[in-house]
Amino acid sequence: MNVQPILQVTNLHVSYDQIEVLRGVSLSVDHGSIVTLIGANGAGKSTLLRCISGILRPKMGSITFAGAEIGERPAHLIARSGLAHVPEGRRLFAKLTVDENLRMGAFRRNDRRGIDNDREHLLEVFPRLRERFRQVSGTLSGGEQQMVAMARALMSRPRMLLLDEPSMGLSPIMVDFVFETIRKINGEGMTILLVEQNASLALQIATNAYVIENGAISLEGSGVHLMDDPRVREAYLG
Ligand SMILES: Nc1ncnc2c1ncn2[C@@H]1O[C@H](COP(=O)(O)OP(=O)(O)OP(=O)(O)O)[C@@H](O)[C@H]1O
Ligand SMILES: [Mg+2]
Repeated sequence: MNVQPILQVTNLHVSYDQIEVLRGVSLSVDHGSIVTLIGANGAGKSTLLRCISGILRPKMGSITFAGAEIGERPAHLIARSGLAHVPEGRRLFAKLTVDENLRMGAFRRNDRRGIDNDREHLLEVFPRLRERFRQVSGTLSGGEQQMVAMARALMSRPRMLLLDEPSMGLSPIMVDFVFETIRKINGEGMTILLVEQNASLALQIATNAYVIENGAISLEGSGVHLMDDPRVREAYLG
């Protein structure tokens, strides 16, 4: 039984130039859970994910992942230790096909058989990608691109997934599909830190949730608990 959280962020401060954007953020994510982070535009959600995955350096504070301090570690080593980040806007290799993008996700692996099995499994999770296997990613719909981004991240066999606004810009049916898939991936054991504007759906699938306002955590609790909190209802579920 692993009782330590897989990810622990403590008193994190991050600035762009002189402007402090995260002002003492602490949060933790348990093995196998879905933790949701909600907050208004500009609150610092993407900044927090960028800092966890090593794209940004903290000014102060600590980030431990799987028992090791990663706050000063370069991004490629954080990725290698099993933290996969699906950024806002998806960032696919637009000129590569779906298949090639998936292969890029596995570029650090050399277990040919495992890679083939994982790809086959992900094409079952995302049947649409099987239909679009040879299509150039830049020509996919937004929802299809989101699927490729998630599947590509999973091809690295991460221990944890950071998802930044996976439902952004998608049609309602596609939003439901993406959330359903997040739930399914979590059901298979994947730990997920989910940043979302769609607070209602994100809180429904969350084990635990945090609200971030102006670079600081203002509320935390179980997903159901926060869904019933009048402050959350007024500000994010209106
Ligand atoms: N590269 C940057 N340089 C300077 N300021 C930045 C930079 N990136 C973000 N910021 C600022 O930091 C603050 C937090 O931005 P961040 O992208 O983390 O917000 P967010 O919560 O993800 O918002 P959204 O919901 O709109 O994606 C904002 O005020 C933003 O303008
Ligand atoms: Mg953002």
